[in-house]
Amino acid sequence: MTILDGKKVSDDIKNEIAAEVQKMKDNGEKVPHLAAVIVGDDGASLTYVGSKVKACERVGFQSTMVRLPNTTSQFELLDKIEELNTNDDIDGFIIQLPLPPQIDTQKVLMAVDPSKDVDGFHPENFGKMALDMSTFIPATPFGILELLERYNVDTKGKHTVVIGRSHIVGRPMSILMSRKGWPGNSTVTLTHSNTKNIAQITTQADIVISALGVPNFLKAEMVRDDAVVIDVGITRVPDETNPKGYAIVGDVDFENVSKKASFITPVPGGVGPMTIAMLLKNTLLAREQRKGN
Ligand code: GUN
Repeated sequence: MTILDGKKVSDDIKNEIAAEVQKMKDNGEKVPHLAAVIVGDDGASLTYVGSKVKACERVGFQSTMVRLPNTTSQFELLDKIEELNTNDDIDGFIIQLPLPPQIDTQKVLMAVDPSKDVDGFHPENFGKMALDMSTFIPATPFGILELLERYNVDTKGKHTVVIGRSHIVGRPMSILMSRKGWPGNSTVTLTHSNTKNIAQITTQADIVISALGVPNFLKAEMVRDDAVVIDVGITRVPDETNPKGYAIVGDVDFENVSKKASFITPVPGGVGPMTIAMLLKNTLLAREQRKGN
C-alpha cells in the first residue's frame, strides 16, 4: 500500500511555483496577486482562506483577503466582485463558499471575470473543462489529478466511482476522470444521495473518490482489494483531546480501508494541501495569461 502524500507533493509544487516567482522577480516582472473574498465568520471557511493567504506568502505571491460581514447583500458582493474584476493589479480571485442564504451563489460566480476565475467555477470555464479546452480546473479535482499523475497511478480503462455530485468536487471530478488522456480514460460512475446499494457499486471500483462529507462513511467491506482510494472528506468533529477542540475526519475508515488499498490518501495531509497548491498554480497561470494585456 502506498500513501498518496499530499503534504509532500504540495510542498514540491509550492517549491516549483516559488522558483517561477523568483524568476519573475529577477526579471523585474510583477508577481501573481490572488485575492480571496470571505463573507461571514464561519470558522472552517476562515481557516481555509487563512491557509490560502499563508500559502501565497510562502511562494512569494501578493495576496489580499477581503472580509465582508455575514449581513452583506448580494448587491454589495456583486459590487466588490466588479471592483476585483476591474482592478488591474489582481490576477485572480476566489469567493469562498458557502455563502450566506441571502446571496444567490450562481449569480455571484457568474459575475466573476472568467480570466480571473482561478477556482474554475464560472460556467464558461466549467464548460471549457467539460469540452477538453484549456482552462482553470477547480483546485480540488485538479489536485487529485496531480496526485494520481505524480504517483503514476494507472487510470486508463479503470472503473472510477465518484461519491458526491457537488459542483466543487464530485461533478467536475467525474468529467475529468472520463476525459481522454491521463489521468483520465476511466469508465466513471457518479454516485450521490439517491444512489441505491452504493456498496454494490463501490466494490466494483478500481478507483474510489469520496467527496461526501460523512465521517468514516467508506468501510473496508465497501472496497475491493487493491483499490485506489481518494478521500476528499474534511469534516470537523468534536475532540476534547485536541487543543483546537475538534479533529478533521475524512470520509474513509482509513485504518481498515488502508489494509486493502493499493494507494490511499490520508486525512489530513492528502487532498487538502493539494487544493491549495493547485489554486496557486491556477493563479500563476492567470498571471502568465495576463502578461502584456
Ligand atoms: N469551499 C470549499 N471548497 C472551496 C473551494 O475550492 N473554493 C472556494 N471558493 N470555496 C470553497
